Amino acid sequence: MEYLIGVDLGTSGTKTVLFDTNGNSIASKTIEYPLYQPQNGWAEQDPEDWWKAACGGMSAVISKSGINPSDIKGIGISGQMHGLVVLDKSGAVLRKSIIWCDQRTEKECEQITSLVGAERLISITANPALTGFTASKILWVRNHEPHIYEKCAHILLPKDYVRYRLTGEFATEVSDASGMQLLDVPGRKWSDEVLSKLQIDKSLLGTVYESPEITGRITKEAAELTKVPEGTPVAGGAGDNAAAAVGTGTVTDGTAFTTIGTSGVVFAHTSSPVIDPKGRVHTFCCAVPGAWHVMGVTQAAGLSLRWFRDNFCAAEKTVAESLGTDPYDTMNKEAQTVPPGCDKLLYLPYLMGERTPHLDPNCRGVFFGLSAMHTRAHMLRAVMEGVAFSQRDSADIIHGMGVDTSTMQVCGGGARSDVWRQMLADVMKTPVLRISNTEGPALGVAILAGTGTGIYKSVSEGCSAVIKMRDKTEPCAENSAEYEKYYKIYKELYPALKSVYKDLSQL
Ligand code: XUL
Repeated sequence: MEYLIGVDLGTSGTKTVLFDTNGNSIASKTIEYPLYQPQNGWAEQDPEDWWKAACGGMSAVISKSGINPSDIKGIGISGQMHGLVVLDKSGAVLRKSIIWCDQRTEKECEQITSLVGAERLISITANPALTGFTASKILWVRNHEPHIYEKCAHILLPKDYVRYRLTGEFATEVSDASGMQLLDVPGRKWSDEVLSKLQIDKSLLGTVYESPEITGRITKEAAELTKVPEGTPVAGGAGDNAAAAVGTGTVTDGTAFTTIGTSGVVFAHTSSPVIDPKGRVHTFCCAVPGAWHVMGVTQAAGLSLRWFRDNFCAAEKTVAESLGTDPYDTMNKEAQTVPPGCDKLLYLPYLMGERTPHLDPNCRGVFFGLSAMHTRAHMLRAVMEGVAFSQRDSADIIHGMGVDTSTMQVCGGGARSDVWRQMLADVMKTPVLRISNTEGPALGVAILAGTGTGIYKSVSEGCSAVIKMRDKTEPCAENSAEYEKYYKIYKELYPALKSVYKDLSQL
């Protein structure tokens, strides 16, 4: 048997999975690491932690599975997008990585917009200047830490730093590079125009590959640490959402998925680079060579429910700990005791500002319509409904761009909840499908590695070989009609609050 390894470098930890070429997960290992928040709105991680987690994960799956390491035919890497890793000329890390959810760069975004021009920026990079994206982080380091920028010889994304340590190559691939705001997204290459207007030297950036291409091979030193044989090929891989798309078979027109992880995403494949001129959703190159995807992001999706669990569900946590169960299972049961619409209670999920559809780092969460008759269960269900309404916002924009999402999957941690899956189907008024494979991004990059090494003829052939459907949740017309009334009011709340959000942020 031949095997492939998928490494998914997430925000809370790195998950490494060893797959056989039929997509069966043979062994899996997740290693967690800290997130540093030195100031309100800042978010940093230590690249050394990612490297240690990747090495620990690979050696663990190899020893757990007992396979012959020489049967590993390729490695794929997926990861959190947008983070900035700066290295000196010897390849040493110059500062902690500023990661995707860091919000410190509002001023640098204004600088980018004025240097490139708002319309030109959207037409080249397919996105307006965003605090989360890498370009504004590069400018922040240059503006605030010139002594570090002076020494900077290489700029990499999180997963591409791990690639560098595995292979010695400075490289990236189109899907993750799309989130740097330096790529010509329709042209799938670095944009000389954006780079020169921002005065960023192209030699700082890695070589851009298509996602299945082989970008390098495991070095002797990496082989010792990972137990993966020297010379094993490492494919381009993909940013986490593009990787999840491959791992769920979202690789042809008409396919889409909605996922609830820390953030929530509605993702649709498209064979042409359609761009929202208002920049409310992202257009990125996808991991299928020659294709793109459109994606809306809810900053705090699963994060909203985790926040609710950690602050208001101590009893559920204690019971779950003593029974060895998951507090979310009890919370799901509680949410089911409340009717759709939560007896006129709404929640806006803007705990971390928002991207789609509002692009506003200053907006914050709201419970609207609280009455003395409401219970904690109402608030819990309202949180879940608010996230579903936010996913509907993304889906509506994507439809409005003429992108077909008729085959909609649901994945991520949120898909495990029956009540949340039904809610998504009802609120989006579409059936939602689930597949049996649950390894998402790790499986996606294993398929990319299998494609790059010739095990599968193409990405879509790899998907057909390994991905199996599990079930379908149909929308309930009665619930959809009820939610529609609440969604109308939900949509009116942000515009009504926009200016006071700004006032609040300036206190
Ligand atoms: C995508 C995004 C997140 C991160 C972290 O634009 O910011 O999905 O990749 O998961």
